[in-house]
Amino acid sequence: MELLFVNACPRGKDSRTLALAEHLLRHLQQKLPELIITRHDLPTMRLQPVNARRLKRKEALCDQRNWDDPLTAIGADFQRANAVIIAAPYWDLSFPSILKTWVENIWVRNLTFFYRDDKPVGLAKGKAAVYVTTAGSYTAKHDWGTLYIEDVMKTLGIPAFRAVKAEALDLLSSDPETILTIARTEAESAADWLRKRLTEE
Ligand SMILES: Cc1cc2nc3c(=O)[nH]c(=O)nc-3n(C[C@H](O)[C@H](O)[C@H](O)COP(=O)(O)O)c2cc1C
Repeated sequence: MELLFVNACPRGKDSRTLALAEHLLRHLQQKLPELIITRHDLPTMRLQPVNARRLKRKEALCDQRNWDDPLTAIGADFQRANAVIIAAPYWDLSFPSILKTWVENIWVRNLTFFYRDDKPVGLAKGKAAVYVTTAGSYTAKHDWGTLYIEDVMKTLGIPAFRAVKAEALDLLSSDPETILTIARTEAESAADWLRKRLTEE
């Protein structure tokens, strides 16, 4: 059983989002020690955004079903994973651009989706995805980051989605430690939710 952990937290060891997601992962691993973890640590992976040259090459790889090339291998890790955890801070009303570049990399025709009747059909094996994010202020209904990642996961075939959020961490009136303590409990509950989906028939 394999889980893909996607770290899209540019502040590295100072990141509260990454710490929250690692807390979730540790809780899950305690309950499921046999879980194999694949990591995509985006701040150090130097994934390339698509441009005309890479797009042409990627389309040819998709036609050949060549999933070993660096242009498609990220998508292969995603397609194979039984569950996915994504950690990204709330930046500029969504998330850091490294996460959008990752999304471009996992969108691989004939591997993670194909078209039927002009509509994309997801091919990811994953049963569930959890998105962990923290924000300086309140995101309210304008959390485009969470809404977008939920749509990406569902379009590519992962049916169950859950978000763990800690909001208002940077407000002068806030008590960030209390907010993060509550969020850690939420992360543990999301880990139990993931475990159930991973172990049910
Ligand atoms: C470049 C940048 C953009 C940000 N944009 C927003 C924003 O649009 N809305 C918001 O509420 N907070 C914003 N913040 C604050 C972060 O969401 C908040 O500090 C978050 O907890 C950072 O997570 P981290 O500790 O994992 O880096 C931004 C912070 C940075 C550095």
